[in-house]
Amino acid sequence: MAVDPKIQALHDMRQQARLGGGPARIDRQHAQGKLTARERVERLLDPGSFRELDMFVTHRTVGFGIEEQKYLSDSVVTGWGAIDGRLVYVFSQDFTVFGGSLGEVHAEKVCKIMDLAMKNGAPVIGLNDSGGARIQEGVVSLAAYAYVFLRNVLASGVVPQISAIMGPCAGGAVYSPAMTDFTLMVKGTSFMHITGPEVIKAVTREEVTSEELGGAMVHNSKSGVAHFAVEDEDGCFALIRRLLSYLPQNNMEDPPFLPSADPAERMDETLDSLVPDSPTKPYDIKEVIRRVVDGGEFLEVHQHWAQNIVVGFARLGGFSVGIVANQPMVLAGVLDIDSSIKAARFVRFCDCFNIPIVTFVDVPGFLPGVAQEHGGIIRNGAKLLYAYCEATVPKVTIITRKAYGGAYDVMSSKHIRGDISYAWPSAEIAVMGPDGAVNIIFRKQIAEAEDPEAERERLVADYRAQFANPYVAAARGYIDDVIEPHETRPRLIEALQMLRNKRDANPPKKHGNIPL
Ligand code: HXC
Repeated sequence: MAVDPKIQALHDMRQQARLGGGPARIDRQHAQGKLTARERVERLLDPGSFRELDMFVTHRTVGFGIEEQKYLSDSVVTGWGAIDGRLVYVFSQDFTVFGGSLGEVHAEKVCKIMDLAMKNGAPVIGLNDSGGARIQEGVVSLAAYAYVFLRNVLASGVVPQISAIMGPCAGGAVYSPAMTDFTLMVKGTSFMHITGPEVIKAVTREEVTSEELGGAMVHNSKSGVAHFAVEDEDGCFALIRRLLSYLPQNNMEDPPFLPSADPAERMDETLDSLVPDSPTKPYDIKEVIRRVVDGGEFLEVHQHWAQNIVVGFARLGGFSVGIVANQPMVLAGVLDIDSSIKAARFVRFCDCFNIPIVTFVDVPGFLPGVAQEHGGIIRNGAKLLYAYCEATVPKVTIITRKAYGGAYDVMSSKHIRGDISYAWPSAEIAVMGPDGAVNIIFRKQIAEAEDPEAERERLVADYRAQFANPYVAAARGYIDDVIEPHETRPRLIEALQMLRNKRDANPPKKHGNIPL
């Protein structure tokens, strides 16, 4: 039977749109190891779930001959679909059309799905692959970016926003991903920078490639701009799907419950001997985390940056938790500028989206040094303190070893509304470590002693016996209980269960003034 010409015209137009910038540009995209915008959406979403919007949109720009070149859908593919059966909104920049550059209609399409996402309470995923502002559109493209930036901010804390960088992302364009919750970068094919190698060479005479300047590992390990580095595009989609499994659809919902085959009452005797006898010997806090959480599954966020603190998602008894943990393996788990910023942002994310926070504490204090002081450790350390104080989600703390000084207060102590604080018998909760304390308060006594070294050792042992344990804090109720390490998992699950209906709120205000 002959197809109705009007239907045929529709099919032809759809087919035309699917070709984006044409076969040659699609081939070039593939040759660079990159998928096209629509191929990416198909691989990210549940099969057959994508509903595309605005396929027939074209640009309205005149000048520089651009009026002769129109591509159906313009340079971005947008719509909704499902991940594990849950609604998500997606935009995917099409590099085959004007290099994925963003102009008026590109932004209108993105804004349309962001508005839908906010109204209907579902995450937004942006797949970025773009040459930035569409040069032919001039200032109109700057305005267009700003409409997207505004929505990123309005959606912040309302629906999760995830950015995948799968090609170039340069100039002011970087600020949209920067204001979303999580940024993933594909190794080898993606880069992000404000000014590129050419401009840098002209201004500072530094010579650098795009990869050295803003490649995936640079932003994952040095700047902290990106949260995840993935080997390839399929790895990127798998990680986005996994990340979303821990998150609620919006700030009015709880994260999904995923029953686990791992029994809630499971004990782990290995934990009893994991903390070394010597307080200066390191151990891997990630091993503690893996031994405690459901199925040993831990999705680490910011794995390569500020490794003296570990943050990420896991489940306990089937419920999502955000985990924050000092890492004794790196800089003895000290808090410094970067680790404070990293953990503060993670705590705030969890609090936005109703994800309880479990904190493992083994912290010798804040990192001393001129660079830290001049870099603003006061202002930056305050971010973490502020974030924990502000958070109203359930907060459960386990002190495994050191909890010294201000860092004890900061790391989700009961004094800043931590709900339940447990300590292992190896915990040392004090103003500072025994050596430092004795050197200060007994300086004169040591100097005047017949055998100063022996006297110092005696005083250190005495201080350790008196203060380097959890019982001084427990005697005041600052610690709710001293637990045996092997029972950590069931005790955490019970505490979180007890806190499931927690209600707490901050005083009404427009917003607080976190020390930025
Ligand atoms: C219009 C663009 C474009 C742009 C690329 N193209 N960027 N068209 N506006 N910004 C087009 C090219 O003309 C080309 O068209 C196609 O996209 C592919 O580009 P190539 O250069 O051939 O690709 P490649 O060699 O892979 O290089 C990619 C690139 C490079 C690194 C992104 O194109 C580039 O440097 N582009 C300009 C980047 C830039 O300066 N953008 C403005 C930044 S300022 P044809 O027809 O040949 O396929 C900015 C401000 C944002 O973004 C401010 C927000 C507040």
